[in-house]
Amino acid sequence: MSSYKEKAIGVFDSGMGGLTCVKELQKLLPGEDIIYFGDTARVPYGTRSRERILEYARQDVSFIESHSVKMVIAACGTVSSAVGSDPSFGGDVPFLGVVSPAGRAAANATRNGLIGVIGTAATIRSGAYEHIIHEISPEVSVISDCCPLFVPMVEEGMTDPSDIVVRSVVERYLSKIKSAGVDTLILGCTHYPHLEKAISDFMGDNVTLISSGAAAAAEAKDLLREKGLLRTDGHTGRLDCYTSDSAELFRENVQVFMGGDFCGTVERVSVEQLCSS
Ligand code: DGL
Repeated sequence: MSSYKEKAIGVFDSGMGGLTCVKELQKLLPGEDIIYFGDTARVPYGTRSRERILEYARQDVSFIESHSVKMVIAACGTVSSAVGSDPSFGGDVPFLGVVSPAGRAAANATRNGLIGVIGTAATIRSGAYEHIIHEISPEVSVISDCCPLFVPMVEEGMTDPSDIVVRSVVERYLSKIKSAGVDTLILGCTHYPHLEKAISDFMGDNVTLISSGAAAAAEAKDLLREKGLLRTDGHTGRLDCYTSDSAELFRENVQVFMGGDFCGTVERVSVEQLCSS
């Protein structure tokens, strides 16, 4: 009989963005199995109402938990900011979003006390990143903005920093934050690290970029260690993915998103199945 520690870590996002968290988890915890769900049939979440986002998130969590996991990570800034700091959202298993880990990482990283935050419209509207940063460091100033075209650009694989369209969109969204003189910028949506090179080229080397998915992966490791739930049996972790749209398309995209080293499984789950879970 397998022990509780041997259960997988469940990770979900509205689409492919949460794979930036998965990639980091695989680096930090190579012995852990991961179950990933990308709701590619209903992406984007960031343009929807908080009620709709929470409805989808509850369905995503129950789907992930039907696979008997030991922890759930919402690798989605939009879901994390809608849920807020409600650790019971995952039911019986520990639940972690990306907002608190990224907020803490930024509060630690800033030297000049000026932090920029970019995310989806729903994330920025929620004020969740400001809230966590001010809880830790009330004196820090936060300037935030939404970047609505970034998610569709990433889902389309349009991330090349030498592409004039990519450079123009980055400049258009980030000019105000750059002029404010921030020294730290939170990529508050897990899709955005795919645009990291273009963003960093524009912001300059002096600005520290915080990937919200990577920050969550680091905290997930600490949380599992604290709870005595890390695997210690020398197992090599596997990655099993589920998508609500085409499995073929997901398999093609995942190679790009994981930098070519994906060797897991991909299965489709219908939206009807999600709604009834
Ligand atoms: N990766 C999601 C996030 O972190 C994308 C949001 C969307 O679906 O609009 O916010």
